[in-house]
Amino acid sequence: MLKLKIIIGSTRPTRAADVVAPWVIDQANAHGAFEVEVMDLRDWPLPLFQEHMGTIGDFKDPTYSEPIVRQWNHTLKEADAVLIITAEYLHSIPGALKNALDNVFVSWALRNKPLAAVGYSSGIAAGVRAVEHLMAVAIEAEAVPLRQTVLIPHVQEAFDDAGAPLDLGTRTAMTVMLDDLAWWGALLAQGRAQGELAPGVLRIRAAMADHLTAA
Ligand SMILES: Cc1cc2nc3c(=O)[nH]c(=O)nc-3n(C[C@H](O)[C@H](O)[C@H](O)COP(=O)(O)O)c2cc1C
Repeated sequence: MLKLKIIIGSTRPTRAADVVAPWVIDQANAHGAFEVEVMDLRDWPLPLFQEHMGTIGDFKDPTYSEPIVRQWNHTLKEADAVLIITAEYLHSIPGALKNALDNVFVSWALRNKPLAAVGYSSGIAAGVRAVEHLMAVAIEAEAVPLRQTVLIPHVQEAFDDAGAPLDLGTRTAMTVMLDDLAWWGALLAQGRAQGELAPGVLRIRAAMADHLTAA
């Protein structure tokens, strides 16, 4: 089974995430390919990003500024696949979610892992701009962002009394997205097991240092 971490990216009281997340989690559990762990940012009161060289300690097993930051990195590092549920705030992702992703620092916990998103908003935009921003963030974290996305407009009216989306397109998009997450999750797990290149930024730094030493 692939380890799928589902991050719930908004935290405010009365959040619409509580309408969306139960369905997403049910679908992920029912898919069959995943061992699901929910990482609700409400349960992860991460500090505003505050890491620096002094808080890292051993780069191979960083200490971080607070135990919760270390735990956050360790838990995400276990993932074979990541699914992020995001609202749209000011055409982007909620600040709490960006902070949580910034906190994946030094561990490269998202690296070479597929990352998919469920976006939603109260209006017609369905979180699409938040998802676009999220995917740019994912690239910089060296995750593998997936094209398949679930987008839910008018979120407060989008679910029936049983908690399922009224829209067939939403339900279908979820199945396709989970299939892709499973495919990429298995492929990239195999690739990581065969050995990974060091992060590009480190390889560039090392190559430049060699070049300067040789000059
Ligand atoms: C700070 C803030 C900014 C928002 N900005 C947008 C926006 O740019 N586009 C949009 O479609 N909806 C926007 N909304 C409406 C949200 O999509 C809607 O409130 C949604 O329920 C937020 O998710 P949440 O309830 O899980 O926090 C915004 C809401 C908040 C609180």
